[in-house]
Amino acid sequence: MSPRVFRAPGRVNLIGEHTDYNGGFVMPAAIGFYTSVAVRPIEERKLVLSSAQFPDRFEVSLDEAAPRKSWCDYPLGVAWALEKSGYRLRGGELTFASDVPIGAGLSSSAALEVSTALALATLAGHDIPTRRLAEICQQAESEFVGMKCGIMDQFISIHGRENHAILLDCRNLDYRPVPIPDRLRLVISNSKVKHELTGSAYNHRRRDCETAAEFFGKTLLRDVTPAQFSSRENELTPQVRMRARHVIGEIARTGIAASALQTGDYRKFGELMYASHESLRVDYEVSCEELDKLVDAAQKVEGVYGSRMTGAGFGGCTISLMEETAVPAFLDSVPAAYESAFGRRPGLYVCRPVDGAHEVIS
Ligand code: GLA
Repeated sequence: MSPRVFRAPGRVNLIGEHTDYNGGFVMPAAIGFYTSVAVRPIEERKLVLSSAQFPDRFEVSLDEAAPRKSWCDYPLGVAWALEKSGYRLRGGELTFASDVPIGAGLSSSAALEVSTALALATLAGHDIPTRRLAEICQQAESEFVGMKCGIMDQFISIHGRENHAILLDCRNLDYRPVPIPDRLRLVISNSKVKHELTGSAYNHRRRDCETAAEFFGKTLLRDVTPAQFSSRENELTPQVRMRARHVIGEIARTGIAASALQTGDYRKFGELMYASHESLRVDYEVSCEELDKLVDAAQKVEGVYGSRMTGAGFGGCTISLMEETAVPAFLDSVPAAYESAFGRRPGLYVCRPVDGAHEVIS
C-alpha cells in the first residue's frame, strides 16, 4: 500500500508578538516552507520515526512514550496528547522531510507537530476539529517537550490561508483572514543567530506576565486595559512593569494594525510594525543587535512599509512588509549592511502567504 503524505507549513508573524499566551491578538501568515510526512500503518501499537534531516531512527511503543530530548519528542508528544484527549491511535511508520529552517523562529516545531497530528489522526480514522487539533499540538509542545508556548504557531500552520494573514484572538480562537494584496511581499531576513536558551527566557517572560495579570486581579493580561495599567503600573517591579507594558501595548497595536491592513493603509501598518519592534527591544528585551541591524537596514529601503523581529526573539528572523518593486533594492542593501556589521550574510526569503496543512495528493 502506498503511503499517504501530509504537509504542514512554517509561519511568520506580522504583528502581535508574545501576546498569544496572554490571550491577546496575533497576526501570522503561513509561508511556503513545509514539513512533510509519509505515513504507513503497522500492526503493532508503535511508532517508527525517521527524518531526512536527522540520522537517528526511533521505534517507540504508543504505550510508553516518554521524552528523549531529541527531535522525536515532537511527534511522540503529539501522539501522547492525542491519546490523552481520547483519540486512540494505531501504529505507524512516519518518515519526515522538511525545508523549514530549524531554530530560526519560523515554527519548524509546529510544522513537525501539525504534520504528525494529521498523519496520526487520519491513520486512526479520527476527524478532529481543526481548533482542537491546534490545541493538541500546543499541548504536546508545552507539556511533553517542555516549551510553554502559546497557540499561535500550531494554529496558523493548520489555518493558514493563501494570500492572507490571519487575525487570531487567542482568548477564544476566533479568527478572520486579512488580505495581503498581490503586489506586496513578506521578506524574511534570518540573522542565523540564537543567543539564549530560548525556552527558559521565554518561560520567564511568561511568568512575569502572569505576575502582572494576577496583580490586576485577572487571569490574562488581555483583560487589563491600558487605562487600568497606567493607573497602577508604578506599584509593579520594574521588570514586570516593562513586560506588561509591552504586552498591553502590543495587543492594542495588533487590533489597529488589522484594521490598517484591511483598509489598505500599509504605511500605518508599517509604523505599527516598527513600534512593535521597539517595544520588544526595550520593554520585552527579546531582540538583539543582529535583529536591530536588520530592522534598521530595512527601514532605509524605499518601498518598505515596516519591519520587525518575528517569533520568540533572542535571534532568529525579522519580517519586512514591502512593495514587490522594493525587493531588489532590499536584497542588495540589507545583506550588505548586515555583513559589514557582523562579517556574515543573513538568510533571505521572499514570501507570500500560503494555505495551512493538508494532505498531498499525488
Ligand atoms: C513562539 C511561541 C508562540 C509565541 C511566539 C511569540 O513562537 O511558540 O506561541 O508566543 O513565540 O509571539
